[in-house]
Amino acid sequence: MRKIIITLDGYSSCGKSTLARQLARELNYVFIDSGAMYRAITLYFLRAHIDCADTEKVIKALSEIALSFEYNPVTGQSDMYLNDENVESLIREMVVSEHVSEVAALKEVREFGVTQQQLMGKKKGIVMDGRDIGTTVFPDAELKIFVTADPAVRVERRFKELFEKNPSITIEEVKRNLEMRDYMDSNREFSPLRQAPDAVILDNSNLTREEQLQVALAWAKERINA
Ligand code: CDP
Repeated sequence: MRKIIITLDGYSSCGKSTLARQLARELNYVFIDSGAMYRAITLYFLRAHIDCADTEKVIKALSEIALSFEYNPVTGQSDMYLNDENVESLIREMVVSEHVSEVAALKEVREFGVTQQQLMGKKKGIVMDGRDIGTTVFPDAELKIFVTADPAVRVERRFKELFEKNPSITIEEVKRNLEMRDYMDSNREFSPLRQAPDAVILDNSNLTREEQLQVALAWAKERINA
């Protein structure tokens, strides 16, 4: 059967990764969470105290970073590795969320991320989610989905997720972070978050996981059999 590229873009915490993972599992495709890559780069920058305004230091730091995804048999999902360290859990912490949009806006960081993401899609059979996947990374993808959800629903979902790991987190903190990232991701100079003109919109505010999967799967099958 013909393999295609599926891209999912959208605002923070709109369920892109969940849907991308579901789709990849159903189609036996590779799933790549591009946000995890920017989060891992941000973790490295925080640890090494890299000043985003210092281009030379940014370039040097990027030359020291190797990113990879490795299958975790316990969770059945892929974990993000930064220079051979499993950082899957660390990169979801609020301190990373607070800095990731600044780091991800840098031209050098975008080039670093996009080049690796394009290589991963060379053989097709991939589902990738992020902000610029259908516009910059795979402008020729066969299926582009722009995922949306009501802002209040997004805040609630992310709050629940984070609260399980850290009960001291507040809903206001989560809301502020999502608003800040959405603003920065949409207004940056390089690869801003945009809906590709040929993307289909999926609003999952009132859909269950199973329902959103069925909608997206039908679109994917149409493209695969085209
Ligand atoms: O899961 P959530 O929607 O909160 O975010 P994420 O997908 O983990 O992405 C974290 C951050 O990485 C975003 O807020 C963007 O600043 C950046 N990002 C990006 O610039 N380009 C992408 N393709 C994916 C993420």
